[in-house]
Amino acid sequence: MILDLGYRRVLRPLLFRAYDGDAERVHDQTLRAIARLGESAPALRATAALCARHHHPRTVAGIAFPGLVGLAAGMDKNGVGVRAWGSLGFGHAELGTVTAQPQPGNPRPRLFRLPASGGVLNRMGFNNAGAEALADRLAAAGVRRGNRAVGIPLGVSIGKTKTVPLAEATGDYLSSLRRLAPYADYVAVNVSSPNTPGLRSLQDGDTLRELVAALVAETRLLDPDDPVPVFVKVAPDLAESALEEALAVCESGGARGIIATNTTLGRDGLAAADAARAAEAGGLSGSPLTRRARQVVAFLAARTELPVIGVGGIMTAADGQALLDVGAALLQVYTGYIFGGPALVAELNRLPVPADPTSPSRSTA
Ligand SMILES: Cc1cc2nc3c(=O)[nH]c(=O)nc-3n(C[C@H](O)[C@H](O)[C@H](O)COP(=O)(O)O)c2cc1C
Repeated sequence: MILDLGYRRVLRPLLFRAYDGDAERVHDQTLRAIARLGESAPALRATAALCARHHHPRTVAGIAFPGLVGLAAGMDKNGVGVRAWGSLGFGHAELGTVTAQPQPGNPRPRLFRLPASGGVLNRMGFNNAGAEALADRLAAAGVRRGNRAVGIPLGVSIGKTKTVPLAEATGDYLSSLRRLAPYADYVAVNVSSPNTPGLRSLQDGDTLRELVAALVAETRLLDPDDPVPVFVKVAPDLAESALEEALAVCESGGARGIIATNTTLGRDGLAAADAARAAEAGGLSGSPLTRRARQVVAFLAARTELPVIGVGGIMTAADGQALLDVGAALLQVYTGYIFGGPALVAELNRLPVPADPTSPSRSTA
C-alpha cells in the first residue's frame, strides 16, 4: 500500500513531468539514484525491508532464484545498479544488453513513453559501455558466478556490435561471452532487438543453430564441469513456424532456457492519444504487448521442457499470473516497472503459484 501510494501516486507523476518529458533523462537520473542506493548498506537494508519479500523461490536451469520476478534486460545495461536490484524486490536482474565493443546507440530522442496506452517505444540501439566495462564493474562489486554477492542471481544479456557485419556475429558474441561468463549466472543471447539492423535475422534456423552451438560449446570449454547456462531471447513478431524452428534449435543446441519476448514492431492496442508517438520507429513494450507475449509464452511452454521466462506487458499482478498459468517458469518486467514501480514487483512477488505450473523437469531443468 505504502509502495503503491509512494510510487504510483507521488513519484511517477513527478518523474513523467521531469525534464520536459524527456524519458531518457529521467531514466538516467533514476538509474543514478538506484546506483547511489547500492552504495549504502543501511539504505539497502531499509529498502529491502520495504520492497523485497520473495515468496516463491524456484530453481530454473540449475539456478536458485529467490523470487519469480526479475528485472528485464535493457534497464541497467551497464550494471550500475547491480547492488540495488535485489533490495528493490527483484529475484534476479538481467544486465545488458552489452556488446563486445562499446557503442553510443542511436541518436536521441530514442525513448518515448506512451502513457495513454501504458506503453513505451524505444530504439536505443544497444547504447552500452561494452562487455569489458561490465565485467570490470561486476568484478569490482565482488560478483563471481554463483556467489550471490548482490543477493540475487545475475543474468548478462549479450548482443552484436553494430559495426560488426552479420556474417561475423558469432565471433562478436563469443568475445562478450568469454569476458562475462565468470560473472554471469546465465547468459542471455539477444537476437531479437528490433533496433540493430539485421539482428533479428539471427533468429533464422540455420543462423541461430550456428550461433547457439558456438556459444554453448564455448561455455563447455570455459567450464567443463558446470557450463554457464545459455538462454535465448526471442521476438514476439515471429510466426508460429519460426518460433517452432527457434525452439528446436535451442533444444538441440543445448540452450537451457528461452526468454519470451522482446519488444514488438507491431502497433496494435494503442490509444488514439499516442498515435503520433507510435509512428516513431522502434520496438513497443508494455500493455500493447501483453496479449502477444502471453500467446508466445503459451505456444513455447506447451511445446518444450525448457524453462520459458515470460516477459512482455506485465503491468499488473494478473498479467504476471496469466503468464505463470500458461507455463512461464519465471517473470521479468521492464515497462511495468516504469508505470508501477516497486509496488508492482511486490504484488508479483505475492502471487499465488498455480498448483502444478510446470513439470518437475521444466522447473529444475
Ligand atoms: C528502453 C528499453 C530498452 C530495452 N533494451 C533491451 C536490451 O538491451 N536487451 C534486451 O534483451 N531487451 C531490451 N528491452 C526489452 C525488454 O527487456 C523487454 O523484453 C520488453 O520491453 C518487454 O517487456 P515489458 O513489456 O515489461 O517492457 C528494452 C526495452 C525497453 C523499453
